[in-house]
Amino acid sequence: MPSPGAATGSVRRLGVLTGGGDCPGLNPVIRAVTRRAIQGGLTVIGIRNGWKGLVEANAAPLDLQSVSGILPKGGTILGTSRTNPYKRPEDHARVLETMRRLQLDAIIAIGGEDTLGVATRLAKEGVRIVGVPKTIDNDLAMTDFTFGFDTAVNIAMEAIDRLHTTAESHHRIMVAEVMGRHAGWIATYAGIAGGADVILIPEEPIDVEAVCELITQRHSRGKDFSIIVIAEGARLKDSAAVGTEEPRDEFGHVRLGGIGHLLGSLIEQRTGYETRVTVLGHLQRGGSPTAFDRILGTRFGVKAVELVLEGTFGVMVSLQGNRVVAVALEEGTSRLKTVDMELYNIAKIFFG
Ligand code: F6P
Repeated sequence: MPSPGAATGSVRRLGVLTGGGDCPGLNPVIRAVTRRAIQGGLTVIGIRNGWKGLVEANAAPLDLQSVSGILPKGGTILGTSRTNPYKRPEDHARVLETMRRLQLDAIIAIGGEDTLGVATRLAKEGVRIVGVPKTIDNDLAMTDFTFGFDTAVNIAMEAIDRLHTTAESHHRIMVAEVMGRHAGWIATYAGIAGGADVILIPEEPIDVEAVCELITQRHSRGKDFSIIVIAEGARLKDSAAVGTEEPRDEFGHVRLGGIGHLLGSLIEQRTGYETRVTVLGHLQRGGSPTAFDRILGTRFGVKAVELVLEGTFGVMVSLQGNRVVAVALEEGTSRLKTVDMELYNIAKIFFG
């Protein structure tokens, strides 16, 4: 028996899902997928809560009415989860069974490394899938940018601007912890845009002495306040990233957070300067997407459907330069994209 979605012939019923952490720009993709698919004569089925919706057969049709007005909305109207259908064999079987029952000929999976990792495995089993890369962390390989990143950077930049005025008034050190599990893209971009005095990222273990030295030097030239931006995944030299070991999600990730507070107390102890810590957390993921993210999401959604209509599967859409193209899903999920050190070296010119 052929695998669901591996059936020959053209696609008539298309499923769409969003998995992993939410991010601004998901709704523009869902809207674009639905509009372009309906225009192409397809029936669109919205799968609820990522892969969980296929495990639990939780899905409903999407029409023009369901996607009306969602372009500026943050989050995802489909809901999301971090369910990994490969964790339990019965879940994997249910995914295939639901596809059969709902007569889904193909799926557009919108997600990050984990969701698209599952898509890659299903594609290898013959399921007809097109991926759409998503993450505020911007750490997916084979695409210059993911939507959500620009919005997160703008939120973090505004926070850094606000921290500047209070830091200056109180002559304090302000540590701003931003998201970035494996890569410090948000920290680097927001730090450069906000004029941070030090930017710390997972790619370079932190030398606390060197950070304190930079701050002390600033003080000696009359700058008695400093802004330090740190990615949640950054770690001290010879230590692991800071977070809770349990609970882990179904893809084995620990919950990060806390490096900002640890660094803040070390700086205060060693320099004697009063220090405060702000953890931006999920504020970076909520709210309305920027124009850039709305447009990128729209372009990704349209391209994903066009790939389905022409019968190209096992690929994800990607931004290369200013062109949206298709790349093999496997290539996009086989490694992470860490911060470009040329850019980080530009940021370093402004340290201290
Ligand atoms: O992957 C995006 C991300 O925002 C990471 O930077 C962060 O570690 C993680 O999601 C947190 O996600 P949640 O709190 O939803 O589990």
